Amino acid sequence: MKFSELAVIPFLLGLGSALTISDKSTNSSSALLHGLMYEDINRCGDGGLYGELLNNRAFQGENRTLDSYNGVDSAKLALVDEPLSDALPKSMKVSGSGFYNEGFFGISVKKGRKYTARFYAKGGSNFNVALKGVSSGDELVSAKAEKVSKSSRLFPSESNGFQLYTAVLVPTEDAPDVDNGLYISFDGGEATFNFVSLMPEHFKGRENGLRVDIAETLNDLSGKFLRFPGGNNLEGQTIERRWKWNETIGALIDRPGREGDWTYPNTDGIGLHEYFEWCEDMDLTPILGVYAGYSLGGEEVAEDDLQPYIDEVLNELEYCLGDYNTEYGKKRIANGRKEPFDVKYVEIGNEDFISKHYDYRFPAYKKAIKEKYPDLTIIATTEIGLEFPEDEVIWWDQHNYQNPEWMIDSFDMYDNYPRNNTKVFQGEYAQTHLGAGLGDEELETPNMLSSASEAVFMLGMERNSDQVLAMCYAPTLQNVDATQWTPDMIQFNTESIAKSTSYYAHKLLFSTAGDKILELQDAPFDPLYYVANLDTKNNRVHVKIANPTDKDAEFSAKVDVKGFENAKATAQSISSTNPNATNVLGQEEQATLQSQDVSYKNGELKLNVGPYYVGVVTLQQ
Ligand code: AHR
Repeated sequence: MKFSELAVIPFLLGLGSALTISDKSTNSSSALLHGLMYEDINRCGDGGLYGELLNNRAFQGENRTLDSYNGVDSAKLALVDEPLSDALPKSMKVSGSGFYNEGFFGISVKKGRKYTARFYAKGGSNFNVALKGVSSGDELVSAKAEKVSKSSRLFPSESNGFQLYTAVLVPTEDAPDVDNGLYISFDGGEATFNFVSLMPEHFKGRENGLRVDIAETLNDLSGKFLRFPGGNNLEGQTIERRWKWNETIGALIDRPGREGDWTYPNTDGIGLHEYFEWCEDMDLTPILGVYAGYSLGGEEVAEDDLQPYIDEVLNELEYCLGDYNTEYGKKRIANGRKEPFDVKYVEIGNEDFISKHYDYRFPAYKKAIKEKYPDLTIIATTEIGLEFPEDEVIWWDQHNYQNPEWMIDSFDMYDNYPRNNTKVFQGEYAQTHLGAGLGDEELETPNMLSSASEAVFMLGMERNSDQVLAMCYAPTLQNVDATQWTPDMIQFNTESIAKSTSYYAHKLLFSTAGDKILELQDAPFDPLYYVANLDTKNNRVHVKIANPTDKDAEFSAKVDVKGFENAKATAQSISSTNPNATNVLGQEEQATLQSQDVSYKNGELKLNVGPYYVGVVTLQQ
C-alpha cells in the first residue's frame, strides 16, 4: 500500500502540538524484555516439539498401556513385568513375527530425511525395520537393524538382558500422507521390546533434540529468554507427581517419565539438559522454574516437612552450577556436560498465589537459595503475604489472560508503578476472550483484534521496561490433534505449522528491541498506542505502533534524536480490516507481516496506520 493512496483519518495531536520522539530523556530497557514460555501442554512436547516420532515408546505414565502398538499378521502383544531398567518396569512381549507403532497422530515421512530407529529387545533375531503406510501397506523404506555394541551417554547398549538395536532409514519418496507406522519384524516367534523410538534429524543437529520446523519458528521470534518447565506442568496434580529434575537426566532409559499435569504421560525426553541445550541453540537465557511445595490439586508441603523439598532444589542448582568437587556437579559432568549451565534466574513455583502458604514457603526457598547462590535472581509467583525486601532485586511473575478492553486499558498499567527493586516479569499473557462487544466467548486462535490489543499491552510494558523486565505469551504451542487450551501462538500437526497473527506481531515487536526507551513529548494515546526505542548497538530507532480499532489513521511524529535526522526509514506491519482475521492450520493465512511505505525526511515521520494494526518503523543510521 502506498502512503499517498490511503484515505486516512488524521491522527490528531494536541492543539498546536506535535508528537516528538526525543533522546533528551530516556529510560533503560531490559535486555531480556522479550522471551518464550514453554511447558508440555496440548501435547506440544511429546508429539510435537520433542523430536521423538513414536508414541508410548517406553510404556510410561501411571496407566501403562500398549497404546499406539499393533501386532502384524495376528501377532499377540502383551504388557509384561520385564523391566528394561529401574525406571522402565514394563515391556511389551510380542508373540508372532512383528508389530508396528503408529506414531502420535501418524508419522510424517519425507524424502531424503534421515530417520534413526532404536529399540531394546530380548529374544528374537534378524530384526527388520520399515516405514510403511498403515492403510495402504506400502513400504516406504526398510533396513536391517544392527546390534549396538558401544554405549553412548543417552543410549546404553545393553540393560537387564535387553540389547539395543538400531537402523537408519532414508526414504526416497515423500509418503502421500501421515498414515504411516514404524514396523519391526523378527525371527524366532517371540521377543520382548522396550524403548521403541524413531527420531528424525533435529534442530541444529542435536541428538535427542527438537522438531526442526517448530524449533525454527520459535527461533525466528528473536526471543531473549526461555521460561521452563511450567506453568502448571511444573507442579504436578499431587506432590508426588511434581516435575522431578533428577528423573529427567541421564540415559533415556533411566528416565521414568511422569503423569504430566495436562492429562497425558510425559517421557521427559526434553529433560533438564535438553532445556539448557535448547536455550544455547536459540541464544536464550534460561529462566528455571523450580518446584516449591505446592501442587495443583491443592496439596501443600507443611512447613515442618519442607526441608527435603528445599534440598531438592539446592541439589538441582548444584547439578546445574557445581564443579567436579560437588556431589551433583560431578553427576552433571558424568552426564557429559563439563561447563556449568547458565542459571541466573530461578522462579519459585508457578502461580503460587493459588496456594495458602506461600508466606512460609517463599521465604524459606529464597533464603536457602540466596545463602548458597547470592548472585541468582529470585522470581516470586505471588505477592500475597510477602514483604518484598527493598535492598534486594526480586522479580514478580504476573499472569493475565484477558479480553481486548483489559489489554488496551492496561497500556498505562506500569506508568506509575513504583520504581523499586520489585521488578515485574509478565510470565504469561494472552487475549483469551473475545470481549469488545463480541461477547465473552473464548478465542480459538488469535485474531487481528486480539493481536493488536495484546500489542497495546506489550507497548505499555516496553515503555516501562526499566521496571517490567521480561514478558512472554502463553501458551506457545498447540497440537491441533490434542488441544486443551486456546488460543495459542503457534498451531501444528504431524507435518505442518501455522503462525498466528499474534506470532507475527510478537516476532515484529521482539525483533525490534532497543536498550533505551525514548521520551515522547506531546503524545496523546488512543486510538493509537506507541513506543519508541533506541538500539545503540545497531544504531537504530524503532517506532512501534498499535491500533486496536477499525479506523485508519495517520501517524506523524518529529524525531528529535541526534544523528537520525536523515536516517533510512523502513516499516513492517500486520493489519486487517477484519478484527476476526486469523491464521488457521491448513487454511490460507488471513494476515501476515508486510513491508510498508513510510515517509521520513529531515526528522519528520509519516505513516499510514491501518485498522487492527501492529507496525514498526525502523530508522537506520
Ligand atoms: O498457560 C496455561 C496455564 O495457565 C499455565 O500452565 C498456568 O501457569 C496458567 O494458569
